[in-house]
Amino acid sequence: MGTKQNPVILQTLSDAKILSEKIADTFAAPRFYREKKIEVGESLRLFENNPMATACMEIIATRANFSGHGLSHARKVAIDAGAIILIEGQHAMENDRVNRAVVLAHIAGILHDIKRSSKNHARRGAEEARKILRGFDLTDKEQVSVVDAIGNHEAFQPCASLAAPDAQLLSDALYDADKFRWGPDNFTEMIWDISDTLDISIEILLDHFPAGLKSLKKIRDTFRTSTGREYGPDFITLGLKIGEMLYKKLEKEHRRNSSPDCGGDRYERL
Ligand SMILES: [Fe+2]
Ligand SMILES: [Fe+2]
Repeated sequence: MGTKQNPVILQTLSDAKILSEKIADTFAAPRFYREKKIEVGESLRLFENNPMATACMEIIATRANFSGHGLSHARKVAIDAGAIILIEGQHAMENDRVNRAVVLAHIAGILHDIKRSSKNHARRGAEEARKILRGFDLTDKEQVSVVDAIGNHEAFQPCASLAAPDAQLLSDALYDADKFRWGPDNFTEMIWDISDTLDISIEILLDHFPAGLKSLKKIRDTFRTSTGREYGPDFITLGLKIGEMLYKKLEKEHRRNSSPDCGGDRYERL
């Protein structure tokens, strides 16, 4: 997190974050979590019993500056990627193979943004993961699959197609689980973490809001697995509804607080 040198800005952003959570609470959870509760629960159970996932979480906990893509983001991506593998693999693979693919999805999910603050962070993250995974109990093929998936996860960038179907599924599941975060999480977690890390003021945030909403719409058509194509657009639609409501309220409050005869400095509560 960034330094807390400017209490006025941070107090305002902190109020805005609370407002975003209250808006999000007025909507039902994304359809994926309601309809795929069993797979998400199973992925969580496997995540919590996977020593390699624990080791990866410990590694990223020691790294700073993920700019809105830290531990909470990594954990959610890992668990959702594992759930996508369970859904997609249940009819196509034997149980042991599916469970091993879930382990790889967890590792890829945790490490995928390890170089988030670097240029070409997916490629740089893949290189970093390759070094980290040398010490892990994975076959060469498994290591390559995780590294390739991380290298392929950035939105609106060309992605390599992978020869092995399991590696392709891992790569696609990681991408989709990461882009699920462009839904409600974008407004309840990510924009506040990024603003805090980079010391972005509410004025700058509001200036960039309409362009940000527009760019979110473009991700809707990029989901890669059939599960992602089924549930991804729902995440994005929900996120956009939250974002649009938030933008209207913030802008209204900001205008009111900026007017010379207004003494208020807090956002109105829902
Ligand atoms: Fe990323
Ligand atoms: Fe990410």
